[in-house]
Amino acid sequence: MRVQIFDSPAQLAGDVARRFVAAARRAIAARGEFTVALAGGSTPRALYQQLVKRHIDWSRVSVYWGDERFVARGDVLSNETMARAALLDHVAPRQVFPMLCAQGAEESAARYEHELPERLDLVLLGLGSDGHTASLFPGDAALHERTRRVVTAHGPEPAPRRITLTVPYINRAGAVWFLVTGADKAPALDRVLHGVENFDVTPAQAVARHARNVTLFVDRAAAGGST
Ligand code: 6PG
Repeated sequence: MRVQIFDSPAQLAGDVARRFVAAARRAIAARGEFTVALAGGSTPRALYQQLVKRHIDWSRVSVYWGDERFVARGDVLSNETMARAALLDHVAPRQVFPMLCAQGAEESAARYEHELPERLDLVLLGLGSDGHTASLFPGDAALHERTRRVVTAHGPEPAPRRITLTVPYINRAGAVWFLVTGADKAPALDRVLHGVENFDVTPAQAVARHARNVTLFVDRAAAGGST
């Protein structure tokens, strides 16, 4: 687990965009394709806007999501809506795999299970102030799934019904990058980095401490005194 600290969210987004370009180039050179799962929430928006301006061979990039809320397509609460507005509507990826949650919980999860590759090159994640990541929330059964790649999950209002990639599937990705900014994330980040290990309290620990290749990109406000 590596931690990179930045003075501002803008500096963080610029550095992660640079690394994203490099990771995509490496994967495309090696295998002809780059597969990435996008994070939801608001933090990644600045990164996605940076990626529009970078030189990436999007015709070789397949785009997935780490999680989605059960709302209609185009709903402002949808992670797909944010990513399309900030990035995907401005580039032309080889393939885009939205989670399409409106079909119904299990059906969406089962379908997505078959669309995913054996392992993703990169999974982008955020961190909730409660210590969740993707839609792996404290105390939820989704956090303890050990065989499936995608499961239904339960989060907070205003969009409690979710589907999410599972811990074992995220953890076998080529790389996992957390993007964490803001003072409100400082307590959760401190628990991720230094807290007693209890995934039901701080789900993000299950990825940050056990995935094969993890980097946390954090700004000084989130880092507080924990690094
Ligand atoms: C979601 C996200 C979630 C997000 C964190 C951080 O669907 O809500 O996948 O895991 O990454 O809640 O959200 P912010 O970036 O908005 O703080």
